[in-house]
Amino acid sequence: MLTLHISATISLLILAPSISGRWLQVNPVEKQLFLSRRVVTESCEFDGGVLVDEKGMIERILTRENVESLLTAKNNIKVIDGGDLALMAGVIDSHVHVNEPGRTSWEGYVTATQAAAAGGITTIIDMPLNSIPPTTTLENLKTKIAAAREEVFVDVGFWGGIVPGNEMELHDMVRAGVVGFKGFLADSGVAEFPNVHKIELGNLFSILNGTGTVLAFHAELEVNNTTTECEGFDCSDPHLYSTYLASHPPEMELEAVSLIASYLPQSDVHVHIVHVSAAGVVPILEKARLGRIHAGNKGWRGGVTAETCHHYLTLSSEQIPAGHTEYKCSPPIRNNTNKEKLWEYIKDHRLDLIASDHSPSVASLKSSNFMESWGGVSSVQFGLSLFWTQAKARGLKLGDVSHYLSAGPAHLCGLQERKGAIRPGLDADLIFFDPNASFVVTPDVILYKNKISPYMNTVLNGKVIQTYIRGQLVYSEGQIIGGPKGILLLKDGY
Ligand SMILES: *[C@@H]1O[C@H](CO)[C@@H](O)[C@H](O)[C@H]1NC(C)=O
Ligand SMILES: *[C@@H]1O[C@H](CO)[C@@H](O)[C@H](O)[C@H]1NC(C)=O
Ligand SMILES: *[C@@H]1O[C@H](CO)[C@@H](O)[C@H](O)[C@H]1NC(C)=O
Ligand SMILES: *[C@@H]1O[C@H](CO)[C@@H](O)[C@H](O)[C@H]1NC(C)=O
Ligand SMILES: *[C@@H]1O[C@H](CO)[C@@H](O)[C@H](O)[C@H]1NC(C)=O
Ligand SMILES: [Zn+2]
Repeated sequence: MLTLHISATISLLILAPSISGRWLQVNPVEKQLFLSRRVVTESCEFDGGVLVDEKGMIERILTRENVESLLTAKNNIKVIDGGDLALMAGVIDSHVHVNEPGRTSWEGYVTATQAAAAGGITTIIDMPLNSIPPTTTLENLKTKIAAAREEVFVDVGFWGGIVPGNEMELHDMVRAGVVGFKGFLADSGVAEFPNVHKIELGNLFSILNGTGTVLAFHAELEVNNTTTECEGFDCSDPHLYSTYLASHPPEMELEAVSLIASYLPQSDVHVHIVHVSAAGVVPILEKARLGRIHAGNKGWRGGVTAETCHHYLTLSSEQIPAGHTEYKCSPPIRNNTNKEKLWEYIKDHRLDLIASDHSPSVASLKSSNFMESWGGVSSVQFGLSLFWTQAKARGLKLGDVSHYLSAGPAHLCGLQERKGAIRPGLDADLIFFDPNASFVVTPDVILYKNKISPYMNTVLNGKVIQTYIRGQLVYSEGQIIGGPKGILLLKDGY
């Protein structure tokens, strides 16, 4: 029954004329009613529908009774009935390294956004590094925009980057609409994106004070020269994961976060810690947040937030085989005790959102040597299923998925009045998700460019059946539908 409805939808959309055949936004021309026995919001699940207007925005949320009366009235509404499939807000992945231009052989906008669409992600935010140029000046941002513009299958926003000496560029990038800035306190892994030095932090907080932007940190600080020099720990076998893990102790994260926290009382800048691995980071941030809330900071979560990533919630160091550098990322995947602590924090709402940190590379940079290989896990396509596989086993609900994967990232990126929830007035970024289905990760289902994954050949629970951005079908049952329909999330004029 469902398949019939979906096929009808697909043929309708393929016949719809596209203005340029390329990226121009082709809005749905008719009202659409998405039906499901299981409409999921952060706080509840119900049997009903979501009415989407001609512009691709959510107009009304309906219970099943309202649906019946709407349909009996003589309305010209296209009905898309998902039956028992869950109807949810699309996922927002606020941490994706697209790498185009410059390292497009690692990943590009077409492949990254197609993979995203297949994974139920309707918006990605592109990280400022690993492309050449990095997004550290307004000109560089324009270069990124030009590369992305005609190629995106989901909506795309941008992080700007902070490197020593680019202070003068930051306000211009805020005006262009970057969601915030990311900086490193330790080596970033690429030469064109040097890290910020401790001594520059104070100035940075002053410059961004009052701009309403987000200052995000890769929070690792080198302690005792451990990062690459193989000093102070047993480095005899670089093919062992334990060697790499010992080179990035939790203290590197804790020290960095404590340093950042020391600047928070004097500033109103929203500070976000990306990819928290060491669970001990969370209490440090909570203390800083409380201080700010007491000082009157009215921002989301007191302007102090943190994300963790699917790999820290799914994998643990004990299971990583020697030589398998597809598991290498930084900060590293830690032990099972740490993983379970992160889950406790999630259950208690002490973390704010979850992202992929999709950081791909070509296979030749993933040798069997953990100390030399590229650090980055590819997973943009699988975040929703990875999270659901673990969350379901721990008794969490689909509403928790929407909280951590859609609403949380929307808030971080200032998109909460536009995306990230099923609510009237927001973009109809919607997915049909089968929470009972499972699938195996194999190279032929992977749509991102380099088919490398620590999840290869594993079974994941929960399958994305269809993805819609602003009311338009972009992915259905294994297929990308039509051309690029995504837009770039920038201020007018950019
Ligand atoms: C998932 O399983 C539950 C319980 O068996 C069932 O009620 C529901 O209809 C199933 N959903 C789908 C989409 O098959
Ligand atoms: C940031 O702005 C607030 C007022 O909004 C001010 O009290 C504070 O001193 C400023 N901090 C810095 C570091 O400039
Ligand atoms: C750094 O080295 C000192 C002296 O060897 C040691 O006491 C300390 O625990 C080390 N710190 C970390 C984080 O490894
Ligand atoms: C780190 O290494 C440098 C140069 O090798 C040395 O001067 C410095 O004392 C070391 N720092 C620590 C904390 O071990
Ligand atoms: C897990 O890692 C932490 C931090 O490195 C360590 O203190 C703890 O002993 C480890 N636990 C196990 C069971 O290995
Ligand atoms: Zn990253």
